[in-house]
Amino acid sequence: MNWKIPYFRHDLGQVELDSLAGVLKGDILTTGEAVSAFEAKFASYLRQRHALAVTSCTGALHMALLALDIGPGDEVITTPMSFVATATAILEAGATPVFVEVEADTGNLDPHRVEAAITAKTKAILPVHLYGLMCDMRALRTIADRHGLHIIEDAAHCIEGVRDGVRPGELSDAACFSFYATKNLTCGEGGAITVNDDALAERLKLLRLHGMTRMAHESAREGYRHWDMVVMGWKYNMSNIEAALLLPQFDRMDAKLVRRHALAERYDRAFAGMDGIKVPSSRPDSVHARHIYTVWCHGCARDDLLAYLHAERIGAVVNYRPIHLMAYFAKRYGYQAGDFPIAEWIGNCTISLPYYPDMPLEDVDVVAQAVEGCLSQARQRHAAPSRARRA
Ligand SMILES: Cc1ncc(COP(=O)(O)O)c(C=O)c1O
Repeated sequence: MNWKIPYFRHDLGQVELDSLAGVLKGDILTTGEAVSAFEAKFASYLRQRHALAVTSCTGALHMALLALDIGPGDEVITTPMSFVATATAILEAGATPVFVEVEADTGNLDPHRVEAAITAKTKAILPVHLYGLMCDMRALRTIADRHGLHIIEDAAHCIEGVRDGVRPGELSDAACFSFYATKNLTCGEGGAITVNDDALAERLKLLRLHGMTRMAHESAREGYRHWDMVVMGWKYNMSNIEAALLLPQFDRMDAKLVRRHALAERYDRAFAGMDGIKVPSSRPDSVHARHIYTVWCHGCARDDLLAYLHAERIGAVVNYRPIHLMAYFAKRYGYQAGDFPIAEWIGNCTISLPYYPDMPLEDVDVVAQAVEGCLSQARQRHAAPSRARRA
């Protein structure tokens, strides 16, 4: 597709190529020094003792659940308004996802409804910081403490977020991040998990690589020594190649966030008072990580708006149709339309608009005008039959 305004464009370039060349000139392509350097930077950015680089956020969530001994027979409370991986990671661990309705103004898991879903089988709460706006972690921590539950954060959208002075990972057992192709920090495919607990970090290191007590680059550095396999582990380790792409991006993170905020404010101004569009709330007590710019369109069918924008060669996608109504979940757990009306309303209305740091500010106005064009067409269509009836 020849987009006039693409949905997303990455900004990786010469510095990433130079960094990659550094790795290619060395001997270790798999997990090694570049990964360690990335982990140190990522942990310090998030004010955590440990960061482990892995192949995806899905893998990070899976590992976090396993490391906390959550598995068959256990329930994990989460949100239906997320990417499916939030819930499939719970299934991968053998546990059962229990969905709880979301807040009408943000789309985030509603802490006021969490306690009613807790049973004797509940082991953890798995909130998602949707679009980059942090959930109310203080409220969730209070509930988790009252019931002896773990918290694992799906922070795939939220590296830079802060709420009430709290960053992802600071009030939970583990926070999981994604470096997927469109994420604020990206290497195409990748992820990380941050934890403060030393023993948990050691367990996660084993789970990340087959349960092995030694990694290949340690043998390369120190000479071969026999290793043992001490627990059942997975193959989730990040390679130096991805880490090389990620490392230089730290220098641009803050500037990119400033730019994302400028673009979001321009969108917000354009949509303020636009009949048929609701902008999800941000919060004065929060730094919004601004991963995606999403609006909820109720002035026309969302899919009509999607088609209209695509016809104008403007990229747009849907984040997300609710998980509980995905065919697999509906069939396996018997979910039906009406089970989570707020998440379903958002799922029917939500549309994510072009948004990336190098996007020209003026393109925001072009997108907003196109949205208004589609809405005004719908208004005319709506008005036409009643005019005809009056005539
Ligand atoms: C909210 C959320 N959770 C989890 C994931 C899974 O991330 P990954 O693709 O790194 O496994 C994504 C990916 O887009 C996501 O948006």
